[in-house]
Order: sequence, then C-alpha cells, then structure tokens
Amino acid sequence: MSAYRTRVAGTGSYLPPDLITNKDLEKLVDTNDQWIRERTGITHRHKALPDQCTSDLAYEATLRALKDACLTAQDIDCIIVGTVTGDYQTPSTACVLQAKLGLTAIPAVDVNAACSGFIYILSMADAYIRMGMYKNILIVGAETITRFINYKDRETCILFGDGAGAWIVSRTDADAKDVIYSSHLRAEGSLGDLFIRPSGGAKVPLSQKVLDEGTHWFQMKGREIFKNAVRTMSATCYDALEFNKISADKVDWLVPHQANSRIMEAVADHFKFPKEKVISIVHEMGNTSAATVPVAFDFARQDGRIQRGQTILLTAFGAGLTAGSAVLKF
Ligand SMILES: CC(C)(COP(=O)(O)OP(=O)(O)OC[C@H]1O[C@@H](n2cnc3c(N)ncnc32)[C@H](O)[C@@H]1OP(=O)(O)O)[C@@H](O)C(=O)NCCC(=O)NCCS
Repeated sequence: MSAYRTRVAGTGSYLPPDLITNKDLEKLVDTNDQWIRERTGITHRHKALPDQCTSDLAYEATLRALKDACLTAQDIDCIIVGTVTGDYQTPSTACVLQAKLGLTAIPAVDVNAACSGFIYILSMADAYIRMGMYKNILIVGAETITRFINYKDRETCILFGDGAGAWIVSRTDADAKDVIYSSHLRAEGSLGDLFIRPSGGAKVPLSQKVLDEGTHWFQMKGREIFKNAVRTMSATCYDALEFNKISADKVDWLVPHQANSRIMEAVADHFKFPKEKVISIVHEMGNTSAATVPVAFDFARQDGRIQRGQTILLTAFGAGLTAGSAVLKF
C-alpha cells in the first residue's frame, strides 16, 4: 500500500489561432462541408502558426496549467509528453519543453502512444507519484499533426488539427478522496498498419523516392479504425468501472478521445451512458491526437461543466493500436 496518491492540481490547454475550415478543405480535396459534419461532427480544426512547433503549443498549455495549480515551473520535478509529432525525432519534445520552461536536471521524456498518449502518460505519472519518486509532474499531450498530414488524402486531412493540453499532477495523502483511482491500458500491435506513417523511420528512411510517393504522410484505414475504436474504448471503460466497482451512473462526465462524434456516440450507446454527459468538442478542434482528452477536459472546466469533486472517466484509442481509460475524482 503506497503512502501517496495522485491528484490533478491544475489543467490548461492551448489551440493555435489559425483555423482550417471545411470550406478550406473543399478547395483541396473532393469533399464537402455537409459530408464532413455528418460523418465526423467536425466544422474546423486549428493549425500551428509557421513558427510554432509542438513544444511551443505544449509550453502555452503548461503555463495555463501551472497558473491553475498555483505553482511555478520550478515546482515541477518531472516532465512527460505524449506526442507522435514532436519537434524532432530526437531530442524529445519533453527535453525541448524543459529548456523552454527554464528548468534543468529534472527528467523529461516523450511517450509514443498516439491518440491514447495522454492516458498512458497519466498512468505513468500516477505510478511515479505513488512510488514516491516525484511530487509535481507535468504531463502534456501535444501535437502539430497537420505537418504530417497529406492534404491530397481526403480521408485523413478532414480529421486532424493541432493543439496541446497539460495537467500538473501532484502528490497527496494516501487517504485523500480527490485522486486518480485507476488507469487501464491496452495495445494490439498486430493492428499497427491501420494508422501508420510507413516511411521516415528506421525501416524505410527518408529518400527522394519516399517524398515522391508520399509514404512519409500518415495513412489510415478509417472504417477499420472506427470499429476498433468503439470496441477498445468501450472495453477499457468496462475495465475501469469493474475495477473501481462503480456503475456508469456514478460517473459525472465521460471525456473520450475526440476523433469523430459518431465514435463517441457509439461508445456512449455501448455503455448506455447519457449522451449529455459526454464531453464533445470535436466540432471545434478535430482530432488533435494525444491532446484531445486534456483539451476537452480543460474546455469543459472553463465552461463550468466539469467541477471539483466530480467523478470523471477518461478514455482514448490510437495508433498502435493503443487504448486506455482512467477514472478520477477531480
Ligand atoms: C474516416 C471516416 C470519417 C470515414 O467515415 P465513414 O462513415 O467510415 O466513411 P466510409 O469510409 O465508409 O466511406 C463512405 C464513402 O465516403 C467517401 N469518403 C471518404 N472520405 C470522404 C470525404 N472526406 N469527403 C467525401 N466523401 C468521402 C468514401 O470514399 C466512401 O465512398 P464510397 O461509398 O463511394 O466508397 C471514419 O471512418 C472515421 O472517423 N474513422 C476513424 C478514423 C480515426 O479516428 N483515426 C484516428 C487515428 S487512430
């Protein structure tokens, strides 16, 4: 039994100012506003400014989370970033962020679990804190995924946007009530080809041929992902409820990965979970991968839906395929 538990001390989010509307996409590919709204729920997505990188979005979200937690950067003793679109292959975006925050020496690491990234890094931070290793961990889901999307591929380009969401998670007493209860993680590596950037890594390094053929862009089998997303998010949510011995009606809000409004509705149907208790902001940001869960959470705090003392269920799925859920009392 650990002497410590983990509480969410502060949250923050940042979406860059530039927008990509459905009308903009109509000019690039054979699609239309009505199809995109009906099939995905999305009306626009945000795009990083030319001089912004993933670490810049993460930095802005971090400042807001620190303010919310009434802490300063010097209070952070570990940084974990979930991203698949880091500033560089190496160094990690977490290391770049550490330097931008004016910090030295504290550990900083990136985790690649795609759109499930935030649930994965939350679980790691919770474990570190329970073990007594750190007191205030900065966890950030951050992506500039629009830089890796082929704007000639109508299936992928309509979905994705840039953004960042940050939490400060902090040590609290073992008997505290407002804590992370649990996290449940999954992966199915055999389904890795459903969402993949086939080239640009060690297997097929960048070359002129890769650039000409466009295999360095994300490629997706959308319909297959849809089915697996509903299956795996529902499964990890069931894992979470069963583990904590709580029923769905004891959950105040479900904050799912924001990929497609129809996926979120299907997960809620699976649970018989009221749709009005599902936080959905996909219409105004699209899929920001590892950032969607903390950004949606932060938006729902700002508009007054999520409040301290409530029980929240988070769930996500992503490339890998990965999936996860977490339950917390905020
Ligand atoms: C991609 C996605 C929006 C497609 O929606 P869908 O309802 O499954 O659509 P389908 O793939 O069945 O395609 C239906 C038709 O629309 C067409 N279509 C696909 N993209 C289109 C677009 N942007 N505009 C207009 N038509 C489009 C298809 O070509 C297909 O035409 P056909 O019937 O003549 O073959 C949906 O499957 C999805 O959101 N999947 C999950 C993707 C995801 O979350 N990825 C995250 C990475 S892990």
